[in-house]
Amino acid sequence: MCIFRTFFILLFYDLLFKPPYTERKKMQEDMININAQLRTLSAHQEKIREEERKRVAGELHDELGQLITSIKIDAEWLNKKIGDEEIELKKKTQDIIQLSSETAKKVRHLAQALRPSILDDMGLIPALEWQFHDFKSRTGIEAEFYHSVDGIKLSEEISTHVFRIVQESLTNIIRHSKAKKVICDMTIHNGKLYLFIKDNGVGFNISEKKNTFGLLGIKERIKMVGGTFTINSDLGQGTESSLEIPISN
Ligand SMILES: Nc1ncnc2c1ncn2[C@@H]1O[C@H](COP(=O)(O)OP(=O)(O)OP(=O)(O)O)[C@@H](O)[C@H]1O
Ligand SMILES: [Mg+2]
Repeated sequence: MCIFRTFFILLFYDLLFKPPYTERKKMQEDMININAQLRTLSAHQEKIREEERKRVAGELHDELGQLITSIKIDAEWLNKKIGDEEIELKKKTQDIIQLSSETAKKVRHLAQALRPSILDDMGLIPALEWQFHDFKSRTGIEAEFYHSVDGIKLSEEISTHVFRIVQESLTNIIRHSKAKKVICDMTIHNGKLYLFIKDNGVGFNISEKKNTFGLLGIKERIKMVGGTFTINSDLGQGTESSLEIPISN
């Protein structure tokens, strides 16, 4: 009796409140369309952000860098004109020379951090080599980058995505892993680019959900270029990420 009552209540609820099949199907399709639109919007915004980074990095390096160099040249000229007896003036101009050298160096660093010119001028491999060299000298963590992709011209889109993914992975290693060693390997085989990064740090529990954006951003980038991304980690076992991107059209 009780079962029948529940059955009728559910049937009654279904008929009254649940949208009919065709309406549900339409809602599902709408959701899929909205998702696709959001993904396109996110890809478009990322492209704009990258172009903006490139523009600002270029202006910092070329415009500001040039101005600072001019100040330095003028100060050096002044310094030569001032006689050795003008101790205070000589000291001030030397300070200006020193300060402008340091500022020029900072500006170059800022421009490189924003978008390394090597990525646009020489391509992904030299940019990654530079990135690993910079990582090693900043952190003291042993880092090796291997590749076997000489002579292959990758699109700017793929090069940028791979560069940013490696950048986020290295940032995660610095921030979370306590690793002593990192290995990265990149190959191209049968029209696909394969890359893995492995650290020997503390690892983490993959199933633990966190409200963070780094790994989410990596997954979005990979989706934009039709690739796949996997990350494996266990507490005490280090972390290994690998990606696969189709590169031939
Ligand atoms: N190499 C790693 N070693 C240890 N833990 C890691 C590593 N990479 C990621 N994690 C863990 O995965 C979590 C998610 O990483 P994710 O990059 O998404 O976020 P985040 O670095 O904490 O913050 P952000 O959004 O600024 O990137 C991290 O908080 C960290 O706990
Ligand atoms: Mg992160």
